[in-house]
Amino acid sequence: MNLLLCVTVVLVSVEYSFGANILGVVPTPSVSHQVVFWPLWKELSLRGHKVTVITTDPMNNAKLQNLTEIDLHSAYQFFNLNIFQVTERPMFEIMYDYADILSNMLDHILTNDEVQHIIKDDTTHYDVVMVEAFHTAAFAFASRFKCPLILLSSLDGSSFAYREIGNPAHPILHPDFMLPFHNELTFTQRLASTGNILFTKFIQKYFFLPPQQKLVEKHFGTGYPMIEDIFKNYSMFFVNTNRFLHPIRPLLPNIIQIGGGTHLQKRAILPENLQNVLDNARNGVIYFSLGSNVKSKHLSDDTRLEILETFKELPYTVLWKFENENLPNISENVIISKWFPQQDVLRHPNVKLFITQGGLQSLEETIFSHVPIIGIPVMADQMSNIANAVSKGLGLSLDYKNIRKEDFKSAILTVIQNPRYRSKVKEMASLIQDQPETGLHRAVWWTEYVIRHGGAPYMRNPGIDLPWYQYYLLDIIGFVLLISTVVIFVTVVLWKTAVKVNRVFKHYVKVKVT
Ligand SMILES: *[C@@H]1O[C@H](CO)[C@@H](O)[C@H](O)[C@H]1NC(C)=O
Ligand SMILES: *[C@@H]1O[C@H](CO)[C@@H](O)[C@H](O)[C@H]1NC(C)=O
Ligand SMILES: *[C@@H]1O[C@H](CO)[C@@H](O)[C@H](O)[C@H]1NC(C)=O
Repeated sequence: MNLLLCVTVVLVSVEYSFGANILGVVPTPSVSHQVVFWPLWKELSLRGHKVTVITTDPMNNAKLQNLTEIDLHSAYQFFNLNIFQVTERPMFEIMYDYADILSNMLDHILTNDEVQHIIKDDTTHYDVVMVEAFHTAAFAFASRFKCPLILLSSLDGSSFAYREIGNPAHPILHPDFMLPFHNELTFTQRLASTGNILFTKFIQKYFFLPPQQKLVEKHFGTGYPMIEDIFKNYSMFFVNTNRFLHPIRPLLPNIIQIGGGTHLQKRAILPENLQNVLDNARNGVIYFSLGSNVKSKHLSDDTRLEILETFKELPYTVLWKFENENLPNISENVIISKWFPQQDVLRHPNVKLFITQGGLQSLEETIFSHVPIIGIPVMADQMSNIANAVSKGLGLSLDYKNIRKEDFKSAILTVIQNPRYRSKVKEMASLIQDQPETGLHRAVWWTEYVIRHGGAPYMRNPGIDLPWYQYYLLDIIGFVLLISTVVIFVTVVLWKTAVKVNRVFKHYVKVKVT
C-alpha cells in the first residue's frame, strides 16, 4: 500500500515537473472575491509552478515559497461605500458611477511600481494569465505576454460575459444574476430580462469598455487589440458555480464550474471567549452578518431598532457582526463584534440560524455547516442567490427596506423550530459534495491543460464569429416569410383568376344553351 502510494506520488510529480510561470490578477477589493482563488494559487505553487498574483488580500503564507503576492490592499479606498445609499439611486446612475469606480481602481493598481515592473520586464515570460473577468483592461496582460487567457469569476458569470464568449444566456431561462428573478418569470419580468440584454450591451459598449481601453493604452502602450477581441480569444472561464446552488444552464466545454465550497478552510480553534459563549448558549445561537461589503452600521436607525427589539424578545444568544464599537439599546443576549471567524462559528453545533445578506460564499459556508438561513439580500447577486435558496427550502427571506419586529420574529421562530429547513440544508450539502472531484481539482487540472497545450482556442463556440442576424436565424426566418408571402399571393391571384374564368365560362355556357 505504501509502495503504491510512493509510486503514485512520484508519477504525479514527474508528470507535473514542468513548472510554469503563472500570473493571476484579482483586483476586486473584497475578501469574498479573493478567498475563492486562494486555494488555487496555493495548490498551483505547491505543484512547482511559479505563481505571481496581483491581489488586494494576500495570504502571506511564508511556506508558499513559489508564490509571490503583490499586495494592493490600498485599492479598498475605492470601495468604501454605504451600499444602502447606493442601492437607493436609479440603476443607470449606479452603473455610470460603477464604471468610474472600476476604472479608477484598476488605474491605481496598474500604476503600482511592482505591477509596472511586470509589464515592462522583458526577461520574464508568463505561460498563462488568469484575470478576474470584471476587469477587462487587465486582459491585456495576455496580449502583453502573447499567452493564453483564463477568465475568473468568484460568482456566476454575468450574462454579458457569457454572451460575449458565445455561451447561451437565455433571458428567460437564465436572467442575469443581478436581476432578482427566479423560476417562472411573469410577462413583465420576461420583458425586463430581455430589455436588460440591450441595456447591458449598451452600458458596456459606451460606459465600461472605453475607459478600460484607455487604461490599456496608458499602462501597456499602443498597438494592443481591442478588449472585445482579447475577450473572445479566452481559453477557459472558471465560474464559481455548482449545479445545485445555481440555475441549470448549458455550458461550453471550456467553462469550468469550480464551485461547491472551494474557499472553505480547515476547521480552526475558536478564540476562548467565543468558544465559551457558543458552548454555554443553552437555547442556541443566531449568527447575524451582512458580509463584508454591506455594513450593518449603515442600516437605518429605524431598522436597527426593529432588529434590536426583535432580538430582545428571543431566548437565543445573537452574535452580530457590527462594524462600530458601540450599539445603543442592545439587550443582554446580543454580542457584537467587528469580525467573527464565520466558518468556525457556523460549524458550532449550537448555531441554529444564520441571518445573511446571501453572498455566495456565506451560503456555501452555511450549507456545509447545516445551518438554515433568513436572507436579507441587498445588492449584486444576493437577490437571486436568496430567491434560489428559499425556493430550495433552505430558509426564508425578508426585505431589508421593510423589517418589522412581528414578521422578523415570526420568520426566525419558523426557521429555527421547523426541522424541515435544516433537513433541506443537509440534503443540499450532501448533493453538492457528491461529485467525482472537487472544484479546486478541476481548476488546477484545466489550468495545467491550458499550459500544456498553449491555450484551448478550439473549444470556443464557433457561434461567436457568426453575424448576429445569422445566429438568431433572422435571415432564414425572413427568407421563409418572403417565400410564404409570395406563394400565398400567387395562390390567391390564381384562385381569383380561376373563379373569374369559371364565372365567364358558366355565363357563356348559359347563354349558349338559352
Ligand atoms: C517550488 O518549486 C520547485 C520547482 O520549481 C519545487 O521543486 C519546490 O518544491 C517548490 N517549493 C514549494 C515550497 O512548493
Ligand atoms: C489569441 O490567443 C493566442 C494564444 O492563445 C495568441 O497567440 C493571440 O495573439 C491572441 N489574439 C488576440 C487578438 O488576443
Ligand atoms: C433607545 O430606545 C428607545 C425606545 O425604546 C428610543 O427612544 C431611543 O431613541 C433609543 N436610543 C438610541 C440611541 O437609539
